[in-house]
Amino acid sequence: MDNLEELRSDLLQRVEAATDLDALDTVRVQALGKKGEITQRMKTLGNLAPEERKEAGQAFNLIKQAVADAIETRKASLHEAALEARLAEEKVDVSLPPRPTTIGKMHPISQTLEELVAIFGEMGFSVAEGHHIEDDFHNFTALNIPPEHPARQELDTFYMPEREDGTRSVLRTHTSPVQIRAMQNTTPPIRIIAPGRTFRADHDATHSPMFHQVEGLVIDEKTNMGHLKGVLIEFCRAFFGVKDLPLRFRPSYFPFTEPSAEVDIGCSRSGGQLKIGAGEDWLEILGSGMVHPKVLENCGIDSSKYQGFAFGIGIERLAMLKYGIPDLRTFYETDLRWMKHYGFLPMEMPSMVRGL
Ligand code: PHE
Repeated sequence: MDNLEELRSDLLQRVEAATDLDALDTVRVQALGKKGEITQRMKTLGNLAPEERKEAGQAFNLIKQAVADAIETRKASLHEAALEARLAEEKVDVSLPPRPTTIGKMHPISQTLEELVAIFGEMGFSVAEGHHIEDDFHNFTALNIPPEHPARQELDTFYMPEREDGTRSVLRTHTSPVQIRAMQNTTPPIRIIAPGRTFRADHDATHSPMFHQVEGLVIDEKTNMGHLKGVLIEFCRAFFGVKDLPLRFRPSYFPFTEPSAEVDIGCSRSGGQLKIGAGEDWLEILGSGMVHPKVLENCGIDSSKYQGFAFGIGIERLAMLKYGIPDLRTFYETDLRWMKHYGFLPMEMPSMVRGL
């Protein structure tokens, strides 16, 4: 009987010591299986005297029951532990940031525009918007664009059908009419940029009938050419991320500015590869000038008191140069492979603090 007590406590200990369901099943087979320790020992009962056999048989059955019960209990707690472990492992951490999504990209034009807004915003410019369909006065006349100017020609501009009074609207050929409206509606100081769509009857590898511009306007009492240069130098260096980018202001002509200057940035073209910021070559990037007194007067601003400067930049051109996009036409083809390659993550808004 001592032996039996030993067997019982040994088996129960092994059940408790099983750390997973597989180990527990091994113990079960070792104890209760056909060749298990209890089964084997019960087979020896035949050698005993009848009274002893009865007593020993009962004792074995009790051990068998106790071991079977212990296995069931252990099984239940191992099950529970396994479940707990799985739940802990599969826990969702809701504080993690979302994964950057792979669907949807920001178009390089939108990205470039946001960069422009970030840079000029830092310099105190606010964003002004206007109409795509303009009248002759705001698109041409107020800007001192004479009737014989090529921009007015039938072949260069999209005109709307003639109205009964003989007037025709145009799809704006630049965003300058936004500046005209700003000057008409506000008293200086004015400091705005006007980004948006513009339209011209041009179509080849480097011209599209619809494209984007950003124009800037600053009007104040003492604003001068030095301010124009400072703002544009600052802008080009920030946009291209080249600290000492060389700039060249080249005399030019626009009907609405006097004097006028075209702005070139330093570049190299050696080996057929365009590199901005280094080398002996120049690349034209934008038009600018001091607002013509006639334009100020056309908008009801006293040109003996106020003066200022304006500039105009093509957004596609900037995007092509900065992001190495070779063909203008691809901007509007809505090719998803192109967007995947040239697009930007939508949640990453450009800012001067973060770096553009
Ligand atoms: N409006 C001009 C254009 O579209 C750009 C420009 C604006 C040039 C302001 C000088 C000053 O071509």
